[in-house]
Amino acid sequence: MSDKIAVIGGTGLYSMMDDFELTRQEIINTPYGEASSPLVFGMLQGKEVVFLARHGFTHRLPPHRINYLANIWMLKKAGVDKILAVNAVGSINDNCTPENLVIPDQIIDYSWGREHTFYAEDLTRVVHIDFTHPYSRSLRKTLIQAGKNKELKLVENAVYGCTQGPRLESAAEVKRLANDGCDLIGMTGMPEASLAREISIEYASISVVANWAAGFNGDEISMEQIESHMQKGMQKVETLISETIRLID
Ligand code: HPA
Repeated sequence: MSDKIAVIGGTGLYSMMDDFELTRQEIINTPYGEASSPLVFGMLQGKEVVFLARHGFTHRLPPHRINYLANIWMLKKAGVDKILAVNAVGSINDNCTPENLVIPDQIIDYSWGREHTFYAEDLTRVVHIDFTHPYSRSLRKTLIQAGKNKELKLVENAVYGCTQGPRLESAAEVKRLANDGCDLIGMTGMPEASLAREISIEYASISVVANWAAGFNGDEISMEQIESHMQKGMQKVETLISETIRLID
């Protein structure tokens, strides 16, 4: 029960791709309550891979209702040591264009009221994890190499700003996020990344640009546009995940 790779699917990725050979599904009870979906185990590129649908198989959970603690704890219990997390994002950087993939290297967390630590109470000692580099540098390197192998033109560095949602931002909020140094805005990157760090799971994000963020480039945001960009982006995500898993030792 060790050394498995997990894929956490976000908006637009509710099941694994065609070349994933499904072996079994399992619900693991956690001390933190119910996870978003059962774990789906299978083989991809000759390796054991575990899939979790962050919003549930039918997209029933908005970002602020996701039980991030249960999800990450369940993956650890299943023997996962690496997570490839797929996140839909809005862009506030001209280089991060809709339908394309970005591998962020930094995070600013604007979310609030989410259970965000395994070290909350009844501790024998207070724990402060290092989060200087919030994403695994070795997993990011592998993702970037996989992108090159498949000519996917990934953007290789970006700051991911995690907002609370579920609404999208106002134009003024987006300006503030840009002034803070964010390139991408999403709602699900935290506390997922820091919880993974707390229990020593390597974690990296594949951010799929669904739209230009509010007021950044044009008028209001349409859900039809987001869906169409996500559909095209997801084809690239599948190629990237498959090649990344092939490259992982
Ligand atoms: N803002 C926040 N989260 C998002 C967006 C956005 O514009 N698009 C997709 N997820």
